Amino acid sequence: MTADAYLIPIAWSASFESGMPELDEEHRVLATLYNDLVRALTRRTSLILRHEFFETVETAAAAHFGNEERLLRKLGGTDVLNHINSHSRFLDDIARLRLAAAEEHALHDAAHVLRRWLIEHFHEDQVLFKALRFHGKAPPD
Ligand SMILES: [Fe+2]
Ligand SMILES: [Fe+2]
Repeated sequence: MTADAYLIPIAWSASFESGMPELDEEHRVLATLYNDLVRALTRRTSLILRHEFFETVETAAAAHFGNEERLLRKLGGTDVLNHINSHSRFLDDIARLRLAAAEEHALHDAAHVLRRWLIEHFHEDQVLFKALRFHGKAPPD
């Protein structure tokens, strides 16, 4: 990864889909928030509402995790627990960055965390929700 690879927008594609339309819509919102941040950083426009940016990410992510975890708990198991723990760690990272929001590096760090984390998250969700459907535990369409 080059120095600024974390500033490349995420182009949503079918390869990210988990097969759960509502969750995928929430994933798209999170990807859009990241893309908004990239746009602000690459055009060197200041994100005046820094705190609000972090709060929006936290709120959207927390709501998404709540929805996702309700479904994943039906599947259970170590992989699900590890994944749920990764949700908590993400929220901790974003909360820590929000506290440093006034510092210039915070937004770059946030872009780095968001890009790496979102793509990993989408792929882990694909595996877990495939298993949920395989076991017949996904809600009907
Ligand atoms: Fe997840
Ligand atoms: Fe997710």
